[in-house]
Amino acid sequence: METLIQSWDGESVVSRFDRESGTWMFIAIHSTALGLATGGTRLKSYPTPRDALFDAMRLAEGMTYKWAGIEFPRGGGKAVLDIPDLFDPSQREGLLSRYGHWLADLHGIFETGPDLGTTPSDMAIIRLGFDGVFGCPPDLGGMGDPGPYTALGVFSGIRASCERYFSSSDMKGRSVMVQGAGSVGKPLIHLLLEAGCEVKFSDLDSAQIDKVRQELGLTFVEPEAVYGEPCDVFAPCATGGILNAKTIPQLKCSIVAGGANNQLEGHQDGEALHQRDILYAPDYIINAGGAIFLLSTENMGWDISKTRDRIIEIEDTLKEIYTHAEQRGISSTAAAEELAKSRVKEAAMKTHAEN
Ligand code: PHE
Repeated sequence: METLIQSWDGESVVSRFDRESGTWMFIAIHSTALGLATGGTRLKSYPTPRDALFDAMRLAEGMTYKWAGIEFPRGGGKAVLDIPDLFDPSQREGLLSRYGHWLADLHGIFETGPDLGTTPSDMAIIRLGFDGVFGCPPDLGGMGDPGPYTALGVFSGIRASCERYFSSSDMKGRSVMVQGAGSVGKPLIHLLLEAGCEVKFSDLDSAQIDKVRQELGLTFVEPEAVYGEPCDVFAPCATGGILNAKTIPQLKCSIVAGGANNQLEGHQDGEALHQRDILYAPDYIINAGGAIFLLSTENMGWDISKTRDRIIEIEDTLKEIYTHAEQRGISSTAAAEELAKSRVKEAAMKTHAEN
């Protein structure tokens, strides 16, 4: 883990081992130049604690760029709870409660909300120990699951990408392959169907697969076959790292635009997509809807209609990035990174000057 931390350009890593449940807890704080480190808490089982820490670091970096992209005054951070393979569900409440108290002990250096593997009711348990928690259930004063709002932003981003690639934002008849029908994928599927798209989906959870098949009558694609499935738009809405040297050559889509965090395994994969003339919507730009929703409604006092309008503006941000990329002859990944990094750098220089 030493080299991992040494080679990272973030600010700090905090860790704790929860003996009772055998869980490694990591908080990665990438940058506080724009504000207090804020990001989701992910709960899942990783091959090794090192993989969990690496994921936290990369996701924290993504959060820095996400806040910069939407110009919200927050910094990039992420927490990962790496539960053991044989995690006993009865341990969940205790673990989350201890995690909440730990966050309080850290004097609020990191504020959090739901992410892959955690729900609004989990947030309510964390909140018993620590105030800085977004996305608690509505009956407990929160705004609940941000998934549908992330999906709304992703949908707007898919439209922007179609307009760019096909010179038409009419979604009717566009084929979309959605990977993961969870808290973002499922509401996205609904929006796509309403717009007249032909939707196919994939998922790993057999109960969820049956449900989506029965409720919506969609075609299911086996998880291994997702990458080679011909479609206009591939929308990754599950885990990260799925765009890599192995999967990119298989792709038979024109556009990759989905809600998952950290879709690219590495920076070079953004370039590889560009080389293949596949239009890629940078994840931290297109999936910022959930972050916009939670912060604007719970922290900034916006009403839902202002929030929705702001989320739909993701369409404009993406168009700007695509235009910038074309003008400079660079990939959309590089263009988005330039934009986000320049905002972080500007803020850092400003605070430096003020001190
Ligand atoms: N985890 C979501 C994201 O990656 C939502 C979230 C945003 C959670 C902000 C906490 C804080 O954007």
